[in-house]
Amino acid sequence: MLVTGSGGGLGRAAALTFAWEGARIIGCDLHEVTNNETVELVRSSGGEMKGIAPVDLTDHNQVRDMVEQSVAVYGGLDVVYNNAAIQYFGPMPDFSIDDWRATIAGELNIPFFVSKYSWPHLIRRGGGTIINIASMAGMIAGANPPMIGHVAAKAGVIAMTCQLALEGAEHGIRAVAISPGPFLTPASDRDLGDDQAARAAITGKTLLKRFGHPSELVELAAFLASDGASYITGANFPVDGGATAW
Ligand SMILES: NC(=O)c1ccc[n+]([C@@H]2O[C@H](COP(=O)([O-])OP(=O)(O)OC[C@H]3O[C@@H](n4cnc5c(N)ncnc54)[C@H](O)[C@@H]3O)[C@@H](O)[C@H]2O)c1
Repeated sequence: MLVTGSGGGLGRAAALTFAWEGARIIGCDLHEVTNNETVELVRSSGGEMKGIAPVDLTDHNQVRDMVEQSVAVYGGLDVVYNNAAIQYFGPMPDFSIDDWRATIAGELNIPFFVSKYSWPHLIRRGGGTIINIASMAGMIAGANPPMIGHVAAKAGVIAMTCQLALEGAEHGIRAVAISPGPFLTPASDRDLGDDQAARAAITGKTLLKRFGHPSELVELAAFLASDGASYITGANFPVDGGATAW
């Protein structure tokens, strides 16, 4: 199984949960130090993981090499967990062309590149599952902060998931999207600090009036990757505390 962005908050949680379920993990990230930390955490909890870092997934040549390296480690690929992303925020019309391009590169190009180069290996195995981490921002507009690039890119991820499901079905490839609402990760917790107004503005859109915990997302991901989800493809699952329900 390949997890992108395994040095980050939700990627680390995914690596730990999938390893706990028995998957053999390849985890890649731009940041070697945080990725190595995840590898150590997985191994010390009894799981199997190899890290590949640093790799810049916005560069398709690096993605191609990383996928080939990954496949060589365990002899194949069954699950691709497209989690890595970087986004930029800002209001219209001040959102710069550079920020727009960087958001599309960091949020939409990455899962396309990783899926593209993994595709033949999934087919070779007789199928597999692609899980794309999208966002509630791909479903509704977002005010806190304004996010024109982010909404467009994540809506693209959800649409791409449908297309991957359509073209993958005949090969035994299922593709699903998970759309998180606000999740508290070590990085977001640190960035928000004790800014209670910002925290309240973000969680106020949820019905449950709180952040999600990474485990509340990756448990669904583990199910979606399992045989229990064999009739689920082309679907997008909000895990957002009800934020997109109203
Ligand atoms: N945390 C949330 O509240 C939230 C909400 C909605 C969607 N999401 C989505 O969940 C996913 C994970 O988010 P997170 O909160 O864990 O973020 P994070 O920043 O903690 O993790 C993202 C990881 O991706 C890596 N990455 C970024 N650009 C890369 C590149 N070019 N090459 C390789 N690695 C790269 C980063 O180094 C980082 O380790 C993202 O797709 C994000 O958009 C998160």
